[in-house]
Amino acid sequence: MTQSTYTIIDHQYDVVVLGAGGAGLRATLGMCAAGLKTACVTKVFPTRSHTVAAQGGVGAALNNMGDGDDWRFHFYDTIKGSDWLGDQDAIEYMCKNAIPAVVELEHFGVPFSRTAEGRIYQRPFGGHTINQGEGMAKRACAAADRTGHAILHTLYQQCLKHEAEFFIEYFALDLIMDEDGKCRGLIAWCLEDGTIHRFQAHTVVLATGGYGRAFFSCTSAHTCTGDGNAMALRANLPLQDMEFIQFHPTGIYGSGCLITEGARGEGGYLTNSTGERFMERYAPNAKDLASRDVVSRAMTIEILEGRGVGPKQDHIMLHLEHLDPKVLHERLPGISETAKIFAGVDVTKEPIPVLPTVHYNMGGIPTNVHGEVVRGASETIVPGLMAIGEAACVSVHGANRLGTNSLLDLIVFGRAAALRAKELIAPNTAHDPLPINAGESTLNWFDKLRHANGTIKTAEIRLKLQETMQRHCAVFRKDEILSEGIKQIDGIGHMMSDVQVNDRSLIWNTDLVEAIELLNLYQQSVVTIHSALNRTESRGAHARDDFPERDDVNWMVHTQSTLGSDGEVSFEQRPVHLYTMTDEVSVVPPKKRTY
Ligand code: FUM
Repeated sequence: MTQSTYTIIDHQYDVVVLGAGGAGLRATLGMCAAGLKTACVTKVFPTRSHTVAAQGGVGAALNNMGDGDDWRFHFYDTIKGSDWLGDQDAIEYMCKNAIPAVVELEHFGVPFSRTAEGRIYQRPFGGHTINQGEGMAKRACAAADRTGHAILHTLYQQCLKHEAEFFIEYFALDLIMDEDGKCRGLIAWCLEDGTIHRFQAHTVVLATGGYGRAFFSCTSAHTCTGDGNAMALRANLPLQDMEFIQFHPTGIYGSGCLITEGARGEGGYLTNSTGERFMERYAPNAKDLASRDVVSRAMTIEILEGRGVGPKQDHIMLHLEHLDPKVLHERLPGISETAKIFAGVDVTKEPIPVLPTVHYNMGGIPTNVHGEVVRGASETIVPGLMAIGEAACVSVHGANRLGTNSLLDLIVFGRAAALRAKELIAPNTAHDPLPINAGESTLNWFDKLRHANGTIKTAEIRLKLQETMQRHCAVFRKDEILSEGIKQIDGIGHMMSDVQVNDRSLIWNTDLVEAIELLNLYQQSVVTIHSALNRTESRGAHARDDFPERDDVNWMVHTQSTLGSDGEVSFEQRPVHLYTMTDEVSVVPPKKRTY
């Protein structure tokens, strides 16, 4: 195969943003507003990005509900939620900037729900408290239960206003790196006409979201295959803290569709087969609004100990039927509809069957607070490359993310990346020539996969991968189960070399798209399950039955994992930032986490 087999089109931009979810659009808008020539490359139409599915709210201590909230309480809660793996300087940056970032969203036109006084409506969410647990904070700024939808559409409109250039339905294949380790651009395949595009840029921003689809049951869209993370791995860059997978307590039993934590914020509660409100036993203060890892573990224990609901005793009930129908109609219309469609439940009359469901990846591409990709204990900057949103690991979420801090992360760090790019890049600076044969190795593997003549269908391998991750990298983990999972993942690697792609065309070849997405999921699964075996402690969402305690002596570190060309995973550690950026807050020293 030579490059001449393909029609290659070259582009030059100051900045190329990959991904058009909340983070990608916020960055694109900021880059354009700074006068930088910016392309946003995306595999789906921007308003179909997975941010559209975010429900309950975006966290900011606005104190609109008069509960005395303060960003320093948000800072404390986020550190505690992260089980002390979050970097405290980055958490300070996010929680402090949350307030102007949400006000800015309001000015951009996000149609938030309103209080009687006309302020942005805020509801309680898990793990968000006033004064270190004295009471629950009302911190989630909500547009009913369709907050992500409201934000995504507004940001897209703002990007159009700033005349951002979009390359829609372009599937990115690889980063273009030079021999000095600088990122020079990316290579993408236009699904509409089959052409290959080399986007040269002074900075590439990866905003490609998470890889929830590595699991069988998840709240993520089918498009959530973590393509940017896999591109980073193929460029021999590390991913950080990949062992930390968030299970959302309330995915609908069977379908996995999200029922927002905002439902419990509005007064919903969970029961087991005896009708007991069991969260009172696990989290006497916060109860159903403890942090997600705590609630998901409690639900799993109830099920494992035989108190699950239904003929198979395999789920839990979420009750909303006691709430005022007016509240359900005004504040939770989206999940009322979802429960009807996917569980056949009228939420005004009956409880919803739910189960902890994969929802978020705390791990991702390591960055500093400006979105710049860093590597190793020295946090050396990878020139020309940024990552933001769920694809990144700043790390503000540590071992467990608090609900509402994801939408917040998108807008705060999307904005931060644009501010940094404005400092680093003078608009329309000339580009050095690309390395000779830039993208050729990418086209080699792409062409090989396109012509793959094996015997196993992509869907079959994907299902096996998803079932393996679901079973072997679950809420509770132990050596035996993880090691067996690694063996199975190795077997899946062999299946990958026997994959069958039937469609050889280049135009809207979804057969090939799915095969590449599977490759991306597989590569991230390998580092995830190895990282889970490697971390011999329990912290946040990573609960090891064989190492049930948190180990701050040996494991108060981020793990960075790289994937060798031979499939070997190697690890490096970097200490958690136990310092703040300013003296407006003090470091929160580690202590036992109870709710
Ligand atoms: O439950 C939810 O609405 C999800 C929010 C989040 O993940 O931040």
